[in-house]
Amino acid sequence: MSRPPESRRALWLNGRIVQGADAALSLFDRGARDGEGLFETLRVYRGEPLDWDRHMERLVLSAAELGFPVPPSPGALRDALGELLRVQGLVEAVARVTVTRGMPGGRPVRTGAWIEVETSASRLWRGARTGECRVILSKRPFHPGAIGRYKTTSRLAYSLAREEARAAGADETLLWSEDGEVLEGATSNLFVVVEGEVRTPPLARGILPGIVRAWVLAACARLGIAAREAVVPRRALRESDEIFLTNSVQEVAPVSAVEDHPVPGRAIGLALEEAYRERVARGG
Ligand SMILES: Cc1ncc(COP(=O)(O)O)c(C=O)c1O
Repeated sequence: MSRPPESRRALWLNGRIVQGADAALSLFDRGARDGEGLFETLRVYRGEPLDWDRHMERLVLSAAELGFPVPPSPGALRDALGELLRVQGLVEAVARVTVTRGMPGGRPVRTGAWIEVETSASRLWRGARTGECRVILSKRPFHPGAIGRYKTTSRLAYSLAREEARAAGADETLLWSEDGEVLEGATSNLFVVVEGEVRTPPLARGILPGIVRAWVLAACARLGIAAREAVVPRRALRESDEIFLTNSVQEVAPVSAVEDHPVPGRAIGLALEEAYRERVARGG
């Protein structure tokens, strides 16, 4: 029987490069036991991670707010990422940096930490490649709760929502609250365009403060496009001129259909996608 690709992939784990098959975490690590971990997923373009400082700021601030032990420094993690990219021979990649809450009562107080890299192409949604994403609404309502604004490894609710998209042959699942507000995608932030105005659900709803979400709001201000945080009721999905999703892997991804309902336009989403790509080409 052939070994799964994960077992042959090199990873960086707690200070050294290991093969996937040997990458083991103690069962007593809170990350392994109880999903007490934080992670960042980001793109590497031509060997350089985009928005490294912003991702590290989110990771370090989240770790501090949630009472994690001290994670490795962003500089040490950057060196580790560089080493791993060299070992894997990758220049266009998706990188994931994970830190765990370590051992209960453990001293010295350091998080567990590892880094994975893989080719970007293997991670792109079909709709992100064609510029025509298809999305569905989750079957059940979703509560981000007190930790929804952190990128934690407690992913079960998000993973089940992602599986709904896979089962439906869609690119992403939109999560909505019991009050009927659409909040975000299972792995992305949501934008709608209504009467020329770009709207995105408020961070105050407990959703993830996406790095690309923040870039889009700043880019709209620069490009003279009206944009603001606003509640997005479910019915707004049928009334929007445009819908697009953002995350650090898929970039800016225009949506062409919500379930069976076609979304009429793509102009603003495409303009923002182009501006994002120009920024990537400039190196950030
Ligand atoms: C639930 C959720 N919302 C939003 C995002 C987008 O975040 P970012 O733009 O920082 O990649 C992600 C990213 O994976 C996510 O998991």
